[in-house]
Amino acid sequence: MARLPIIVAPDPRLKKASAPVEAVDDEICALLDDMLETMYDANGVGLAAPQVGVLKRVVVIDVARADETSTPMELVNPEVVWVSDDIVVKEEGCLSLPEYYAEVERPETIRVTYLDRVNKKQELEADEMLATCIQHEIDHLDGVLFVDHVSSLKRNMILRKLNKAKRQGSITVA
Ligand code: NI
Repeated sequence: MARLPIIVAPDPRLKKASAPVEAVDDEICALLDDMLETMYDANGVGLAAPQVGVLKRVVVIDVARADETSTPMELVNPEVVWVSDDIVVKEEGCLSLPEYYAEVERPETIRVTYLDRVNKKQELEADEMLATCIQHEIDHLDGVLFVDHVSSLKRNMILRKLNKAKRQGSITVA
């Protein structure tokens, strides 16, 4: 396994749509392993392949708290097939927007289909933090960041500050 460099916004690679995976093979399994290692190392709860420069529809998630047993999830070609009418507002952060947080509105409960690491189609229903996290990661696969859900004023402020931090070298650029 290897730790991969995480791309920090603003970056054109984070704005692109990722391609579906044709089949989950050894290469995709290796990517899943590397992404999980990268996510845990960065203390994140989710990571999408475009954040490490791979434009494929691959996501890893673990929403277990520090005092809980880890629950790694690997979702290939995740697709939301149902959402609840109930909306929740939760504070979101992102490894590609380090140290910035904002409240985002999303459906409270969702159902998702995906391929697992043996290329088998699975379906799961999620709510609470897991539902928010899955929707946030699927957004990445469509070139959408959580700041795209907030006001342009707030978005531009965050992106401007990140850009400045990158130029000054206080953020390592992948
Ligand atoms: Ni993110």
